[in-house]
Amino acid sequence: MDNRVIIFDTTLRDGEQAPGCSMTMEQKLRMARQLEKLGVDVIEAGFAIASEGDFEAVKRVSMEIKDCTICSLARTKKTDIDRAWQALQYAEDPLIHTFIATSDIHILHKLHMNRDQVLKTAVEHVKYAKQYSEKVEFSAEDAGRSDVDFLCNIFEAVIDAGATVINVPDTVGYVIPDEFGNLIKTIREKVPNIHKAILSVHCHNDLGLAVANSIAAVANGARQVETTINGIGERAGNASMEEFVMALNTRKNLLDLETGVVTTEIYRSSQLLTSLTGMTVQRNKAIVGANAFAHEAGIHQDGMLKNKQTYEIMTPESVGIHKSALVLGKHSGRHALGERYKELGYELSKDDLEVAYKSFIRLADKKKDIYDADLIAIIQDEISEIPEIYEFESLQVVSGTEITPTATIKLKRGDQSLMDSSIGDGPVDAACRAIDRITGIQCKLINYSIHAVTKGKDALGEVLIQVEYNDRSYAGRGASTDIIEASAKAYINAINRVVHTSESDSGDDTIDQI
Ligand code: KIV
Ligand code: ZN
Repeated sequence: MDNRVIIFDTTLRDGEQAPGCSMTMEQKLRMARQLEKLGVDVIEAGFAIASEGDFEAVKRVSMEIKDCTICSLARTKKTDIDRAWQALQYAEDPLIHTFIATSDIHILHKLHMNRDQVLKTAVEHVKYAKQYSEKVEFSAEDAGRSDVDFLCNIFEAVIDAGATVINVPDTVGYVIPDEFGNLIKTIREKVPNIHKAILSVHCHNDLGLAVANSIAAVANGARQVETTINGIGERAGNASMEEFVMALNTRKNLLDLETGVVTTEIYRSSQLLTSLTGMTVQRNKAIVGANAFAHEAGIHQDGMLKNKQTYEIMTPESVGIHKSALVLGKHSGRHALGERYKELGYELSKDDLEVAYKSFIRLADKKKDIYDADLIAIIQDEISEIPEIYEFESLQVVSGTEITPTATIKLKRGDQSLMDSSIGDGPVDAACRAIDRITGIQCKLINYSIHAVTKGKDALGEVLIQVEYNDRSYAGRGASTDIIEASAKAYINAINRVVHTSESDSGDDTIDQI
């Protein structure tokens, strides 16, 4: 049996539909470019019929990304499949992913159908999708709680109808590893034409078992796994790509399976997603959390100094985490900066390099040592995928324990200079209120986090926030050696997203998400 496992990435679909993870079209494109570099095999770019924004994202990703299969989700409805194809037709290697629920709970209470009707609908729509695309994936939603014989019948029928991928989702994260492994084994034994399709799994993490279940599935013959970066997704999320891939790599002796993922791109992908959505990962998150490679206990540190293998089962370098090296100083030129960015994996245009260079010089005036992490923060700060409708100009704050915090902010919109002041509960609150007064946009701050990009008291503070506006959440990011300035920049960044989104995309979902 082939030992190559296909990585089907659904960060931009199942991941993006989770609260706090929505992305604009430009953000999805940026993430898709990184997924291509990461070497995933399939990118599920959205659910084309769900909204204009989703449709455009699938279309633009189809037009631009050529090294991955591009997929759109579609219910077993002709209108969904038509819409998916309208967006996917530009892809070099398109895949229509259609699904219907197969568990009795869903069939009775959600679909109000019977099993025969579900089977007929599935077959009819796989055939319909097949008119457009050679590659068609069929998912049996809530397969984890479905009757196994019915599941096998429907899989056999849709493979006869032309499905090239059969997906077994544990939609509600209910199964446990042995049980799921056995289900995959049974499907392989009982579905006579299973060899004509790729057997795929899609696990949710409600019991914290999504990765364990995915591993049990591949150990029993599944050869596609659906994952998301950082494990984002509905409720407790989906199987995390980085955990699944590194488990396979680290335990190759046991599983003898491989993927096409370039593991050194893992950390960059995780960081990019965090900065696009504002959704941070917990410090102790496996593989990409801040503590994943930190050794605190004396005994561990001693062991590490003697031989790294005492406490390290994989190296940070293997997932693209490098010790933040001291790189450049105040007198480094544009060329050296451009070269360092290249080494870090960023190909900057001449204009972008100029913007980054100005920012680098400003930072070097405030901070003695500049590290790789500072350069990455500069790039994320300055080279944004959304236009800077409001631009930060300056900030003045008066704060203390005995006085009412007051902030005065100056912004630029086009040629116009705009200024206002506000008091607040603290200096950050006062700064955000002053920005609200200038822009006339009142967002609700739902998440705020700050961390130092490097060590040292003069380190850059990076602020990641999520705001809510008209029932939609937007991320914002800002960095500065002054944390109030970083907070104001993050808030302005989020407001620019609000304005840009309402100008370019109605943002109204036309149907409920799955
Ligand atoms: O969780 C699920 O069942 C899904 C399907 C649409 C694959 O996301
Ligand atoms: Zn799902």
